Amino acid sequence: MTARRTLGVLISGGGTNLQAILDRVADGFLPCRVGLVLSNDPTAGGLERARRARVTTAVVPHGEFGSRETFEQAITARLEEAGVDLVALAGFMRLLSPWFVRRWSGRLVNIHPALLPAFPGTHVQRQALAYGARFSGCTVHFVDEGTDTGPIIVQAVVPVLPDDSEESLAQRILAEEHRIYPQALRWIAEDRVRLDGRRVTIAHAAAFDSRTVVNPALDPPDAR
Ligand code: GRF
Repeated sequence: MTARRTLGVLISGGGTNLQAILDRVADGFLPCRVGLVLSNDPTAGGLERARRARVTTAVVPHGEFGSRETFEQAITARLEEAGVDLVALAGFMRLLSPWFVRRWSGRLVNIHPALLPAFPGTHVQRQALAYGARFSGCTVHFVDEGTDTGPIIVQAVVPVLPDDSEESLAQRILAEEHRIYPQALRWIAEDRVRLDGRRVTIAHAAAFDSRTVVNPALDPPDAR
């Protein structure tokens, strides 16, 4: 397996999505090298996950910069030093400026714990429960200049159950995040993703399989 991309993962917290990415790189499903894990918060649990996987880490505390732009220039410098050519936001809790988004255009993706365009922003499980939605889920999308508005690569649908709390719904969604994020990154790394306006097509993706409620359907787990 040859690494086709050098990934940079930006985190602010526990890093379970980062862990899913590291695991799928390790088992050969995701043909990438993780060149850098960068956090704006020195206490982010994901930093320890990266160290355990022997991945280079960086902490760039946003509070130490006078402006969003200088903070983002510092991040960009670290990503470039590490040879990163694809950036995955994985629970990175800073809004990004149009400058940063343009700088990494087409090479910047995010995972959001709702079925966009429903429930963008924060506290989205609370929003979905309060709304009475019967389904929620998660979305991997390219990042554009809006908040959670970029072109959608893949979504997984999760039912909202009668007894759900914010926490139980978040956990059910998180389990799907861990499946679809490595998959989306694999599609990009294999140059299978085409963008036509807002619409994303995936070359050679299996047809939608209503049993899995993941669209497009996932590559087989043993695909290499
Ligand atoms: C996930 O729910 C992700 O969708 C959102 O932030 C959370 C990060 O969780 N953007 P983790 O740090 O990957 O565990």
